[in-house]
Amino acid sequence: MCGIVGILGKKPVALQVLDALKRLEYRGYDSAGVATLEDGHLARRRAEGKLGNLELKLSEAPLSGAIGIGHTRWATHGRPNETNAHPHATDKLAVVHNGIIENFAELKAELQAEGIVFETQTDTEVVAQLVTAKLRDGKSPMEAVATTLPRLRGAFALAFLFEGVSDMLIGARHGPPLAVGWGDGEMYLGSDALALAPFTDEVTYLEDGDWVVLTRTDAVIRDMDGHPVDRVRQRVPTNSFLASKGNHRHFMVKEIYEQPEVVARTIAHYVDFAAGLACPPPLPFAWKDLRRVSITACGTASLAGHVARYWFERLARLPVELDVASEFRYREAPLDPGELAMFISQSGETADTLASLRYAKSQGQRILSVVNVPTSTMARESEAVAPTLAGVEVGVASTKAFTCQLATLLSLAIAAGRERGTLSEAEERRLVAALNGIPELMTEALHLEGEIELLARDLARARDVLYLGRGTAYPIALEGALKLKELSYIHAEGYAAGELKHGPIALIDETMPVIVIAPYDSVFEKTVSNMQEVAARGGRILLVTDARGAREAAMDTMGTIVMPDCDPVVAPILYAVAIQLIAYHTAVFMGKDVDQPRNLAKSVTVE
Ligand code: M6R
Repeated sequence: MCGIVGILGKKPVALQVLDALKRLEYRGYDSAGVATLEDGHLARRRAEGKLGNLELKLSEAPLSGAIGIGHTRWATHGRPNETNAHPHATDKLAVVHNGIIENFAELKAELQAEGIVFETQTDTEVVAQLVTAKLRDGKSPMEAVATTLPRLRGAFALAFLFEGVSDMLIGARHGPPLAVGWGDGEMYLGSDALALAPFTDEVTYLEDGDWVVLTRTDAVIRDMDGHPVDRVRQRVPTNSFLASKGNHRHFMVKEIYEQPEVVARTIAHYVDFAAGLACPPPLPFAWKDLRRVSITACGTASLAGHVARYWFERLARLPVELDVASEFRYREAPLDPGELAMFISQSGETADTLASLRYAKSQGQRILSVVNVPTSTMARESEAVAPTLAGVEVGVASTKAFTCQLATLLSLAIAAGRERGTLSEAEERRLVAALNGIPELMTEALHLEGEIELLARDLARARDVLYLGRGTAYPIALEGALKLKELSYIHAEGYAAGELKHGPIALIDETMPVIVIAPYDSVFEKTVSNMQEVAARGGRILLVTDARGAREAAMDTMGTIVMPDCDPVVAPILYAVAIQLIAYHTAVFMGKDVDQPRNLAKSVTVE
C-alpha cells in the first residue's frame, strides 16, 4: 500500500525523504515521488516503477528544499505511470495520499463543472483541487484543509505541502495510519515509525479523524471537530525497526529462517516451561464463560484462524465461526453480546479486519486481537491483545508472522481447554511439550531446503498446481496455494482432500502437480485414498509427510518431502515451513521478485 513521508528539516530533505521511502518499500508500490519547496516554490520529481528510477531523477535534477513530502504509490485509481504518481500538485500545494476517496467521482464532477481541468486519473487530485479552491477563496492552509476534510468519504491519510510556506506541513488521518515523528528542531510525518527510524524513535500516532499541523518545533493535533487533542508521545523500541537481509538473498528467506527463534520467543510468552503448562498473560474474560468465538482476518492471517478453529473446537470444545474480514464486515452477523470476537493481523492495520473489529465492538463483543505490531490501530482499539513476537516482517509474503500466529493461537486454545475443563492436565502437558519442541523441529525442517529447491524446479514448469489436505492440513494446503500464487504467479488452488471428487478431480492430468500435505495422523488413510484417485488419473503427486506417512503411503510420487516427526496437533506450524520453501524456491527459480511480488501490498489499508 502507499507510503507517506513528510520532513520539516534544517537542510535539504529530498534524500532523507527518499531514504524514508526506501523503508516503506516493503509495503508494495509501483511509482514514487518527492516534492520540496525550492526558494519557496513547489518542485516535484516523480517516476514510474522502483525507487531507483526516482533516485536517478533526483541525481539528474536535485532538489534542495529543507521541507518536503514523499510517496510510494500502490495504484488504485489510474495506471501506475508518472502522471498518476504522487505528489499531486497545483500552483498552491502538493499532496500525497494513502487510501481511497470514495466520493471522488462526485467531487470531480463538481470541480469540473467549475472549470477545473484534471491532469490525472487519480482520486487524490480532487483533494489537491478542493484545497486549492479554498486557498484561492482566501482561506489559510489550515482553514482550507479543515474545511475540505469533512467533504471526503473513504479511508485516507494525507500530507500537504504549501507553495510559499516553508515552516508548515499538514497531515490528516481517516483510516490508514499516520505517525508524527519528533526531532530536534525537525519534525516528521510517516506512514509508520519504521519510515522515520533513521531520524527519530519518538512518535505520536494520529487517531482516526485527527489532523495535525507540523512546524519545525511542534505538532498541534486536532480531532475531526477541530478541537485540539493530546495524543501520546511514545518511544518505539529500536529493535522493532527494519532489519537488513543479512547474508540472505531475500527478506523472505531470512524470515523463513528466523522462525525457530521467533516462534520460540512467542511460545515463551504463552507457556510456563518449568511447569509445562500454558500460561498466557491474563485476559479480561474467562474462556469458560464463552459459548462461541468468532475469528476474523484476511489472507494468511485468516488461514491461521482457520487452523485455530480446529484447535479451539477440538481442545476447548468452543464453537468457532470463521470468516474473511471483507465478508464479515458487511454480513451484519448477529453476535450475542458478551461473546468473544478474535481478530488476527500481522500489521494490525488491514482495513477490512479493522472495520470488522469495530463492527464486533459495536455489537458488544469482547475483543481480542492477535497482532504483530504492538503500536498498531487494532492493538490500540482492542480490549485485549495477544501479541505475536515475530519482529518486523518485511517480505510481502507472510511467513514468520503466520507461524507465530499459529503458536499464539494454539497456546490460547490449550489455556481455553484447561479452563473449560475439556483438557486434562496430562493432555495439557503433552501438548505444551509438543509446542515447546516445535522450534527445534523447524530447524530440522529447514535442512530440507536443498531437496525442496530441486523439486521446485519441476514445479516452476507447471501452469496450475493443486494443494490438498485434511483436518488442520487443509488450511495449510490453502496457505501453500496462496504462497505459490502470490510469489510465482502460477495458478494454484487449495482443497480439502475430501472435496477433490466433488469437482477439482476434473482438472487432473499428467501436467498437474498435486501437492498433498499429510502428516501421519487420524485422517492420513483417507488422504491416501484421495492420492490414489489422483494417481489413477495420471496426476503427479508431491507428498509432504513424515517418515511413517511416507512408508504407509507407499506411492510413486514426483517427490516426497519427509518432515521431522511431531505431534499431529502442532504439525501445521511445522508443515508451514515446507510450503513456504516450496513457494519461495519456485518463484526464485522463475526469477520473480519474491520480496515485492507484483500488485501486492504488505499492509492493505484500503478495501
Ligand atoms: O497484516 P495482515 O496480517 O492483516 O495482512 C493480511 C493479509 O493481507 C496478508 O496475510 C496477505 O495475505 C499476505 N500477503 C500473505 O502472504
